[in-house]
Amino acid sequence: MPLLKVEGVTAGYGDMEILRNVGIHVEAAEIVSLIGPNGAGKSTLMKTVFGLLTPKSGTISYQDRPIHGRKPHDIVGLGMCYVPQVDNVFTSLTVEENLDMGGYLLGDRERRERREAAYEFFPRLRERRRQRAGQMSGGERQMVAMGSALMLQPQLLLLDEPSAGLSPKLVDEIFDNIRSINASGVAVLMVEQNAKKSLEMAHRGYVLANGENRFDGTGRELLADPDVARLYLGG
Ligand SMILES: Nc1ncnc2c1ncn2[C@@H]1O[C@H](COP(=O)(O)OP(=O)(O)OP(=O)(O)O)[C@@H](O)[C@H]1O
Ligand SMILES: [Mg+2]
Repeated sequence: MPLLKVEGVTAGYGDMEILRNVGIHVEAAEIVSLIGPNGAGKSTLMKTVFGLLTPKSGTISYQDRPIHGRKPHDIVGLGMCYVPQVDNVFTSLTVEENLDMGGYLLGDRERRERREAAYEFFPRLRERRRQRAGQMSGGERQMVAMGSALMLQPQLLLLDEPSAGLSPKLVDEIFDNIRSINASGVAVLMVEQNAKKSLEMAHRGYVLANGENRFDGTGRELLADPDVARLYLGG
């Protein structure tokens, strides 16, 4: 049984249908990359998986339990965390306060332990722990967002464009972080504008276009597919 299974999902905003009959799955400890043009519905799919949008039809199951129609706070409790594309930190709170918000479901002691683990994983956050997240660089902010999402030790982490707006060097750093998170056993479903790089790292990937599944396969298969390359990888 896959960790996450999305089948035949149709969803959107109000009467506007964005996703049509979309299906994807994520196995335990896998990195799955979701790529596709702007407006394809990638973020909409992430929001639907995380319970921010309710599908009109179709099913979503997590660890073999149906979760469509459940609210984000329930889904978090099942072991899935989500880092949105925008507004993914509390800018007026310090790094430490942000981490604590991520660990809101934990008791004091466990929250301290998890915070320590986050600092070990992202040493830069420890140095900056008293700094407001709003005063940090884009890359550091992304670390705060990922660190907060990892506080609850999810089995699945949803990342929507973790490298957006970062310099090439920071993109590499964030991708290394994602690799290490995955190496610790966490499955990752990520949306990336940096399609090539993300497919190189991913075990599998999906191309979404116009709200529908277009291509899927291993990262390697998608990279080698001439149609995928021409249409979605810029040559
Ligand atoms: N809150 C909203 N209300 C209404 N329509 C929305 C909303 N958010 C997104 N849309 C529309 O849904 C479609 C898909 O948007 P979505 O954000 O899922 O695309 P995306 O694939 O993530 O694009 P990008 O690569 O630009 O982030 C777009 O046409 C967008 O205008
Ligand atoms: Mg998006």
